[in-house]
Amino acid sequence: MNERDSEAVAAQLVAKGYSLAPAEGTADVVLLNTCSVRDAAEQKAIGKMHGLAAEVRRHRPNVVLGFMGCMAQSRGQALLDRLPDVDLVVGTQKFHRTAEYLDEIFSGKRNKICDVGEEEGSEATIREHILAGNARTRSVTAFVSIMQGCNQYCTFCIVPYTRGQERSRTIPDIVGECRELAARGVKEITLLGQIVTSYGKREIGVRDGRSAFVQLLEAVHEIEGLQRIRFTSPHPKGYGDDLVEAYGRLPKLCESAHIPVQSGSDRILKLMHRGYTRAGCLAIIQKLRRIQPRIGITTDIIVGFPGETENDFEATLSLAQEAEFDNAYIFKYSPRKDTPAATMPDQVPQEIKEERNQRLLNVVNEIGAGKYEAQVGKCVEILVEGPSRRNPARLQGRTRTNKIVVFEGSERQIGQLLDLKIHRTGSFTLYGDPAIVNLDIDNSLSQ
Ligand code: 5AD
Repeated sequence: MNERDSEAVAAQLVAKGYSLAPAEGTADVVLLNTCSVRDAAEQKAIGKMHGLAAEVRRHRPNVVLGFMGCMAQSRGQALLDRLPDVDLVVGTQKFHRTAEYLDEIFSGKRNKICDVGEEEGSEATIREHILAGNARTRSVTAFVSIMQGCNQYCTFCIVPYTRGQERSRTIPDIVGECRELAARGVKEITLLGQIVTSYGKREIGVRDGRSAFVQLLEAVHEIEGLQRIRFTSPHPKGYGDDLVEAYGRLPKLCESAHIPVQSGSDRILKLMHRGYTRAGCLAIIQKLRRIQPRIGITTDIIVGFPGETENDFEATLSLAQEAEFDNAYIFKYSPRKDTPAATMPDQVPQEIKEERNQRLLNVVNEIGAGKYEAQVGKCVEILVEGPSRRNPARLQGRTRTNKIVVFEGSERQIGQLLDLKIHRTGSFTLYGDPAIVNLDIDNSLSQ
């Protein structure tokens, strides 16, 4: 979400005549987009700002430094008061005003600016993209923001306070953006929102037994040239039968689902205000696997939520075993400002959070490794995205089940769907059989 917001702001600035600096040391403006979901993210952003003030500001006193996003929203003016090097604070409903505020600062009209107000219609302002153009880095995939905010109020989560109430863009507006991306060569789109499965609940509603989100999936599915659709993040209770059934009906919808269970204990799920049970989650996973047996399923889990006992934690361990996730993102509970869980009794000591984190990681990694291992010898379809992150001499793509595959190939394959044979696995990475790719190249050479 933050990457997408940053991209949109960068594109808006480029449209106003700015250009992207190759490094922060040469930039006239450095904006940090921030996350507040856990304290570690906030501390990292503050540490980074101190570093910028000490290193960049010292050599270039006129550089503008700013914070955007969730931490900007929740701390507001306090950031300007506490960090004298910060010039600009832009909240989550004001991203699109960044260029305006920079103009005011550069023209000397205002010295420091903080805007964390609400703004009607701001959900439709994250729309500009920066698509890389050259053969090696051209953009094959893109994120599209379909809504802002969250009304779920999970007791651990700061998001409803930093991103505001749920507001959805219209279907034609989103489809227009996706169509433009497809026309510019994008093959895969990930629809983004805090809880995408709640998309358009108020504004659009259910039609012919289909939720607004499924209606949106159908509309995006129609776009010619687009080959794959993904979405994140959903809520488990959003996997109604209409969405489950969409996985069997819409061929562009990739066989991949993120189901953030958070805990395997019904008692803790209730304290978290999640609105589902352990059995409910397992039933959704079963339904998804029935309709798409190879579907990749990932999750988010919090360990050490207030009041979590050894028994509760063991329920989470056993859920991870039963659900057999392809991968899981595990987080140690971090108390957040103004959230109900922060003041709940029986906060769990840090050592216990660490220990549970490690035990759960061991289980999740072992199951995940088994799932990846099971791919060896199989043929998979990947969309080639570009150079591998770790080894730019190789290419990488993703399977429909959202697993990264690294292989040796040629630039012209970027943006193509390719069948590869998996010959080995690394840590949550697959390696494709170069034999098939070579055969492909040989064929094209002999033509
Ligand atoms: N502490 C730890 N993890 C959290 N998450 C959200 N809030 C907190 C918190 N206060 C995790 C949840 C969510 C993911 C994006 O971050 O697992 O799904």
